[in-house]
Amino acid sequence: MPHLVSERMGDVPSDEMTLEARLSEREYKRPSPAFIGQANAADPAIYDRIGSFPEGFEEYAEMLEWDRHWDEVFDGSNPPFFEWFAGGRLNASVNCIDRHLETRKNQAAIIWEGEAGERRTLTYQDLYREVNAMAALLTSVGVEEDDIVTIHLPMVPALPITMLACARIGAPHSVVFAGFSAGALADRVNDADSSYIVTIDGYYRRGEFLDHVDKTNRALDDIDGAPEVLVWGRHETPDVSSSYLLVDDLLDAHRRDRVEPVIRDAEDPLFLMYTSGTTGKPKGCQHRTGGYLAYVAGTSKYVLDIKPEDTYWCAADIGWITGHSYIVYGPLVLGTTTLMREGSPDHPHKGILWEVAERHDVDIFHTSPTAVRTFMKWGAEHLEGYDFDFRHLTTVGEPIQPEAWLWYYNHVGGGDAVIVDTWWQTETGGHLITNLPALADMKPGSAGLACPGIEAAVVDDAGQVMDRGGAGNLVITRPWPGMLQTVYGDDDRFIDTYWRAFSDIDSDDWTDWVYAPGDGAVYEEDGYFRILGRLDDVMNVAGHRLGTMELESAVAEVPAVAEAAVVARKHDEKGQVPDVYVTLREGIEPDATVIADIVESVENEIGSFARPANVEFVPELPKTRSGKIMRRLLENISNDEPLGNTMTLRDPSVPEAIRQQVQGR
Ligand code: WTA
Repeated sequence: MPHLVSERMGDVPSDEMTLEARLSEREYKRPSPAFIGQANAADPAIYDRIGSFPEGFEEYAEMLEWDRHWDEVFDGSNPPFFEWFAGGRLNASVNCIDRHLETRKNQAAIIWEGEAGERRTLTYQDLYREVNAMAALLTSVGVEEDDIVTIHLPMVPALPITMLACARIGAPHSVVFAGFSAGALADRVNDADSSYIVTIDGYYRRGEFLDHVDKTNRALDDIDGAPEVLVWGRHETPDVSSSYLLVDDLLDAHRRDRVEPVIRDAEDPLFLMYTSGTTGKPKGCQHRTGGYLAYVAGTSKYVLDIKPEDTYWCAADIGWITGHSYIVYGPLVLGTTTLMREGSPDHPHKGILWEVAERHDVDIFHTSPTAVRTFMKWGAEHLEGYDFDFRHLTTVGEPIQPEAWLWYYNHVGGGDAVIVDTWWQTETGGHLITNLPALADMKPGSAGLACPGIEAAVVDDAGQVMDRGGAGNLVITRPWPGMLQTVYGDDDRFIDTYWRAFSDIDSDDWTDWVYAPGDGAVYEEDGYFRILGRLDDVMNVAGHRLGTMELESAVAEVPAVAEAAVVARKHDEKGQVPDVYVTLREGIEPDATVIADIVESVENEIGSFARPANVEFVPELPKTRSGKIMRRLLENISNDEPLGNTMTLRDPSVPEAIRQQVQGR
């Protein structure tokens, strides 16, 4: 039995028989005594301590170094614009670097593995020098406090160095995942009104050197204004437009500079991270400095169990929130060694991850269910012969099937590492639902308990809390320090997207405000949350969050297309893939050119990771009488599911015809 649950909820299966009756795959797994013996969070009282709202969260804030102590832990007077640690002042780069110099300046802060076989270790002292030099350079080219700097960099040390340099001078960064196209980059630069783009000439992927600066070249056509472009070199001096500034050349003049950190208010923004939603335009989630850093430090310590002497490896990309919170900020605040790697997991061979883990004796490993399913498909033989030994494993980004969970547990974890399945979002800054590993038993397929201090529930569409075991809307009923401040430049959208559904939005009382993440979940009998996935038109392709609307507008750019609908089809490895249904304009013949144009448009507007799996030409899309496209029916067709009720449609015969066309093959 999950012992913590029995203490907190008094509502667990009463005897071993009940457990036996469960699917064998869903049996609880208990952390090993060795793990429990060393865990950062080993005392169940942590739930009460941090859960005493709001003062409990001070424990996280106390993990940071502050220039001025906060006046108030939480200010809920203007919901949903909550404030955390207001009055407090601090600098994020000082918290990630300077504060460690006294105790561990020569310890590795970042270990980098390049795809072309390079290895680079940056000690905390090295990182200090690099970040200061870059901060001096940014200042010298005119970047000032509160300017938003767009960073379009792949997994090279320049990425965390640039982020931390921005943080040092109080310039919020907006990192755009390197896989995003020129069009997606331009959208984000425009939305943030950013006057600086930091990029690189290229990087490696499966042995190929990809031209990366080309995306900036092309994005400039669509960017309002003329941003300054700074280009790092992957190897030597890159050959780029003469109007660009070459970072490596300019840095020479700043190698020995020291930049006084700009001390920020706790509520000053640290960064923007754009994410997909139900409407076309991506939203700039704005994260604050104090609350965010405190929350990622606390969860890195207690959920990921990171200690300064560990070597920790999160195999995500820093260009997504996971990398921000749990490659860069959380681990560095705690003073640990964080590993980052460029390239794909099958290059130069399918055992490369385990080779790297052995080389650096990695203690904690963090990846996505998509990656686990891929490892499973490749087979356990690719892990054989490598001497790695993880104490702790993490998954993030999508629901993990019990089968994949068990494979991860047995083959990667050797049957004794703990696994935490962490549920959270770009918006939440850090983990909200997952077990503290030494305190609650693992259950494959369930993210687990709400994190300390977090209040979660499952409600029906009217907002009523549901009985245990029912599937409904996941909601978070109390604020937390890691939450986004707003959608950049659009407070109304912030309220509409996350609060309107289940809050009394006219109320000044913060307790009337309920955060709606847009996910479905089951609150199980034992108090664990099982996450079902998105309830809105957002799909999760290999752990990348994509909005249906963004995809549809990319498809609609193709002149031959009259109307488009994009739905998610289940996929063994990637979780979901986009299926495109289109009607063509009069007189246009469906052929391979149109398909190629559609695929190319998606790659140009979003990126190749969003490439459609299928393009289906149909005479008509299923629509309601009021003309709304019924994506759900198309989703049923894509997934070989029965159609269900089609009587409310304008023409009920449409979906059946499409079903025969698609499923009849
Ligand atoms: C999904 C990634 C099930 C969920 C950190 C959420 C998950 C979206 C899990 C956020 C999990 C994330 N189990 N589903 N452990 N973690 N999700 O913003 O649908 O890229 O809303 O943040 O991923 O994706 P995002």
